Amino acid sequence: MTLKDRLAAQIAASGPMTIAAFMQACLHDPKDGYYATRPALGEAGDFITAPLVSQMFGELIGLWAVETWRGLGAPNPFRLVEMGPGDGTLMSDILRAARLAPEFLAACDLWMVEVSEPLMRLQMAALADAALSPTWTPRLTDIPAGAPVILVANELLDCLPVRQFVQTQTGWVEKLVGLNASGALTFALSAPAPEGGMVLEMSAAQEAFGLEIGEIIHRQSGAALLIDYGRSEPGFGDTFQALSRHEKVDPLADPGGADLTVHVDFPTVLDAARAQGCATALTTQGHFLRALGIEYRAAALAQARPERTEALQRQIHRLVAPDKMGDLFKAAVIHFPAEPVPPGFGKIPE
Ligand SMILES: C[S@@+](CC[C@H](N)C(=O)[O-])C[C@H]1O[C@@H](n2cnc3c(N)ncnc32)[C@H](O)[C@@H]1O
Repeated sequence: MTLKDRLAAQIAASGPMTIAAFMQACLHDPKDGYYATRPALGEAGDFITAPLVSQMFGELIGLWAVETWRGLGAPNPFRLVEMGPGDGTLMSDILRAARLAPEFLAACDLWMVEVSEPLMRLQMAALADAALSPTWTPRLTDIPAGAPVILVANELLDCLPVRQFVQTQTGWVEKLVGLNASGALTFALSAPAPEGGMVLEMSAAQEAFGLEIGEIIHRQSGAALLIDYGRSEPGFGDTFQALSRHEKVDPLADPGGADLTVHVDFPTVLDAARAQGCATALTTQGHFLRALGIEYRAAALAQARPERTEALQRQIHRLVAPDKMGDLFKAAVIHFPAEPVPPGFGKIPE
């Protein structure tokens, strides 16, 4: 039985399901979920992420981690954690850049938090010759306390489940996944209502993530860098989407066959972390990378390999231009102590 058939049978027996439950099943069903069976990153896959656009992204985050560690007083040991490490490219670039700071590598206890078996295997291959050997775990809670934490997560929060509510003339109702008259999956509302208006997305999982990370960082000190596409102000809008082979597809058409995402609600995530006593900062990906000196990094790489100049400029454009990833993607940091603020959130160097 396909996942689509199983979900239809479940809805027929128990009634329509929330978008959050649908996302959870499509992404993480142990037998047929997207991340359990066929995650495909990169040009030849379903979607591309910033580390796969350019090695500069991960290298700058490596330098960010080193500077953040120095700002914390160069603790030894400390835990470097990546959540949702994809195909391992980001951590591989981070560790290559961190070779410039052998004392950072010597103090580092490296952890990878991954729920997808196929991606974990790719990460192991990508890091086979890296400067450090990570420990893998599917749960953040498995990582021992007792040391400061520097955590990185790129495009992780956008796959945490959300519920959607629609404003109607008779009040807010929940958008659900139900069945039509012929038994096919369809969107439905929790109560009969005339055509819907604004859509509000609420993610208990994103809020719980902010609370959990905030609690860890406040207890152990450190910083968590979260990069994702999402909003910096509270707002309305239906951002639920499915991507397959770089095209937006109907999220109900092939459960488990496509990546499902939503825009991250950064205000909610960061409010939750502040409620735990942490400080936070938020900016755009474009600002963050420029403040870390992406232009200088590109110039240095181009000097060593002049034939790459044009390609490097194209990569920078894709990562920082406001009409590409630069504005839609945000960089957020959750940190404790409040001073110093980790790099990337202040002025862009002249
Ligand atoms: C869109 S990919 C991003 C990959 C990588 N960070 C990059 O930038 O290329 C999402 C990653 O998060 C992982 N993931 C999804 N849900 C997760 C969860 N609840 N806990 C930990 N990892 C999760 C996926 O398996 C995958 O590695």
